[in-house]
Amino acid sequence: MMEFPITLDPRSPQPLYRQLYEEMRRSILKGRLGAGDRVPSSRSLARLLGVSRATVTQGYEQLISEGYLQAAVGSGTSVSAELPEEWIEAAPVAKPAAAVRRPGVRLSKFGASLGEIVREPADAPQVISFQYCRPAVDQFPVEDWRRLLMRHYRGRGPAILDYAGDGRGHAPLRQAIAAYLARSRAVRCDADQVIIVNGSQQALHLIAQVMLDRGDGVVVEEPGYPGARHAFLMQGAHLHAAPVDAGGIVPERLPAAPAKLAYVTPSHQFPTGGILSLQRRLELLAWAESRGVLIVEDDYDSEFRYGGRPIPALQGLDPNETVLYVGTFSKVLFPALRIGYLVAPRGLADVFERAKWLADRHTPTLEQCALADFIREGHLERHLRRMRLLYDKRRQTLVRALRVHFGARVTILGEDSGMHLMIELRTALGNAEVVRRAAQAGVGLNDAGIYYLGAGGEGAFVLGYGAVSERKIQEGVRRLAAALGGG
Ligand SMILES: Cc1ncc(COP(=O)(O)O)c(C=O)c1O
Repeated sequence: MMEFPITLDPRSPQPLYRQLYEEMRRSILKGRLGAGDRVPSSRSLARLLGVSRATVTQGYEQLISEGYLQAAVGSGTSVSAELPEEWIEAAPVAKPAAAVRRPGVRLSKFGASLGEIVREPADAPQVISFQYCRPAVDQFPVEDWRRLLMRHYRGRGPAILDYAGDGRGHAPLRQAIAAYLARSRAVRCDADQVIIVNGSQQALHLIAQVMLDRGDGVVVEEPGYPGARHAFLMQGAHLHAAPVDAGGIVPERLPAAPAKLAYVTPSHQFPTGGILSLQRRLELLAWAESRGVLIVEDDYDSEFRYGGRPIPALQGLDPNETVLYVGTFSKVLFPALRIGYLVAPRGLADVFERAKWLADRHTPTLEQCALADFIREGHLERHLRRMRLLYDKRRQTLVRALRVHFGARVTILGEDSGMHLMIELRTALGNAEVVRRAAQAGVGLNDAGIYYLGAGGEGAFVLGYGAVSERKIQEGVRRLAAALGGG
């Protein structure tokens, strides 16, 4: 027993029992201790190593609980005949050289269409990126968030790790959202109508799945949000474009073709930024009601409005339950949270709950619990107040810099709300050339052409400013003007 192959280091920051566990596990895996070999009693090993018996017992218990050692009454402790690695590790196989699709594999129509999806390109870190969908994540109060996560992780016991019983989402979060939407957006709902989803993108997919059959018509804004269009197309819908002007969707120009849904962004038209007037909201609701169309209201960033009181959400103006209201925490908190909500008409909440359950059971519970407290304890509105001031300064800096560097060559649209604006440049260069020259000068831009179903968007670009410091905004616009010259 004197040659037992283990040494422990009392100066190591790793606890002694853990060292003992690691060393013994290694000896077993290397075969220095073979199947069936007896190990010393805890008393004699403790004496041999000069550590307490409790240390050895704790190390042995860990090895037994993981299946490396087995203890039999009367015959002491020995190395197991079958090691846990044999149960959980598959035999290694050679990695294929490259991800080439096997010839003859036929994708579905949907699978084949995915090649055309334009994903927001990730800009290199040294680039000043005006990508539109980025909030200032460096301003998020991570310490408050961490404290709330730990409160629920520690306080709720193992139940928080199990499947949640409620497919609509954590009830206190649904209540907090219903109350928040009532005060900030004049949305009228109770918590039972709120379905927690993984970002508004999931709400759009669920709406498409629950409401649309192949060939059904959907009215979409032109230009509009590609995330919504793709969700409807996936379901085989026909899209009918509704033109927008500086005041958002134009009720008199709504398409005549039959439709089941109309997708709109009334608080801040995406991407042109128009804010739909009360008059137009009422006309839109009357149109939907008369034609039996359900409205999908995407209220993705209406929290950030600069000047003037917010106009109530369509949902709150609608007496007839014709609105499916969608919102997200991606802009107001951070996009990786992947929590959004769908406020369904009372009669549809149950079917959406089932669709959500089928899609992915439910949204992760721990984050929902933390978010409920984050809202109830006032952190959300505190953060919003700070961010509104920050984004307003960034917005003003961007508008000023554009006017200084481009003068009469630029028209700025939709700067009264949100975290992005749209510009129309008078330039002889095509959009792709503008984006290429901007990238060469270290500036990331969004070509607005991708937001059009048909032709459109020449000379138009979307600039997000939420995540860009004032200094970088000024530098970015200066570089852009220099790169485009008088072109
Ligand atoms: C119009 C619109 N809706 C919704 C979203 C947010 O999507 P999600 O909640 O899935 O992050 C975005 C993101 O940029 C958007 O532009």
